[in-house]
Amino acid sequence: MSKEAYKLTSPDGSEIELPVRSGTLGPDVLEIGRLYRDQRVFTYDPGFMATGSCESTITFIDGDEGILLYRGYPVEQLAKYSSFLEVAYLLLHGELPTPSELEKFDTTVRTHTMLNEGMLRFFTGFRYDAHPMAMLSAVVGSMSAYYHDTMDIDNAEQRDIFAHRILAKLPTIAAAAHKLNAGQPFIYPRNDLGYTENLLQMLFAVPAEPYEINSVAAEALDLLFILHADHEQNCSTSTVRMAGSSGTNPYSAIAAGISALWGPAHGGANEAVLRMLREIGDAKNIPKFVAKAKDRDDPFRLMGFGHRVYKNFDPRATIIREMCHKVLKQMGRKDAPLFDLALALEEVALKDDYFIEKNLYPNVDFYSGIIYRALGIPTSMFTVMFAIGRTVGWVAHWREMITESNRRISRPRQLYRGPVQRDYVAIEKRK
Ligand code: SDX
Repeated sequence: MSKEAYKLTSPDGSEIELPVRSGTLGPDVLEIGRLYRDQRVFTYDPGFMATGSCESTITFIDGDEGILLYRGYPVEQLAKYSSFLEVAYLLLHGELPTPSELEKFDTTVRTHTMLNEGMLRFFTGFRYDAHPMAMLSAVVGSMSAYYHDTMDIDNAEQRDIFAHRILAKLPTIAAAAHKLNAGQPFIYPRNDLGYTENLLQMLFAVPAEPYEINSVAAEALDLLFILHADHEQNCSTSTVRMAGSSGTNPYSAIAAGISALWGPAHGGANEAVLRMLREIGDAKNIPKFVAKAKDRDDPFRLMGFGHRVYKNFDPRATIIREMCHKVLKQMGRKDAPLFDLALALEEVALKDDYFIEKNLYPNVDFYSGIIYRALGIPTSMFTVMFAIGRTVGWVAHWREMITESNRRISRPRQLYRGPVQRDYVAIEKRK
């Protein structure tokens, strides 16, 4: 659906028309392809603050209103009524599953959770204290060395098997990384357990005694995975799209997304929030840290605050904060002081002019670590947990990009500010 074009006048007086396109929701876009073809100029938007990179039907965010929709369904409703596997089906297929579709999907995922035994040997090669995100990106990338039967990106059946495999095996790989760090034996997945129950037993069961799954923990993880499942064209999802646009195999594209997620400005923030809260230590120190965050000469930032898109509350943070109350109470965990500190920090920051003027609110990463910690998950595993939830979003976007009729490799241009052409100088003539 197109509206009137924007009209521009170039420095030489020539008129340029840029067609406008409208989506079903959100801002219109300007099609700028002809700017280079007709005017030999590029647009320039470092960090892609105002650039639409693709057309998508998967997730919609309204950052001003704090709205997040997965295939049109508000995340608040999915958090309240759905399950992670049902949301995964929705993101992958575009519609909520029928009971038989969900049962088939659940069975398929349950029966793909084991790893090739050769992959398990990778873990014996890592240092005992290797960061689990390093192990996750390495082992997921290695899947392209095992699953050669699902590497044809133009084969729909192979794309489906890849999707089920990566969704099913991510928790197993994540748990294996944790067991290496813990110095404990790897625990095999069990097909009789649901998605989060299986992950909990792979993380925390030991051969020496029976393991009883805590239903509150399983429910909390399921909700966290729903909230982390997708988020439009964020850094890691755009990385998966960019890598996948070269036609590389899907496992390598997902491994690229895992690497991008690791950064503290992105999914690594949940780990950074816990470290920050521990550094703050006590509510009396909050003013000092808020002052550091406001100091332009100080690189310190209030981790878990701010967002490229949300200039209002991140709806996921609100849901997670409510879940913190419930989990801490039901788990009877001693982490209440950290949660109390986080609540106090939020209260101080949201009353501060700097945070108000810059629309800096708590984001998805601010409270999630409180819950992970209450479930006994070590801080270094927090971003791995984010990756488990986000993998289905990465797969959905990868598949949407791969199946586009006008698919092309992503290849941005630049504003060149280097030396003009010059001739080589023999070393003996250099001063
Ligand atoms: C995720 O994109 C997504 O959707 C990501 C995500 C997803 O689900 O995929 O939602 C998940 O990554 C959430 C964000 C987690 N990151 C953090 O919590 C790290 C702390 N936050 C920031 O570093 C920052 O807010 C970003 C990276 C999240 C957003 O950065 P932007 O959009 O590039 O904004 P910016 O860095 O230009 O900041 C604008 C201003 C700056 O001040 P000025 O230069 O204008 O004076 O706000 C300031 C910043 O200094 N600012 C902060 C701040 N965040 C921004 N100041 C103090 N503390 C902060 N946290």
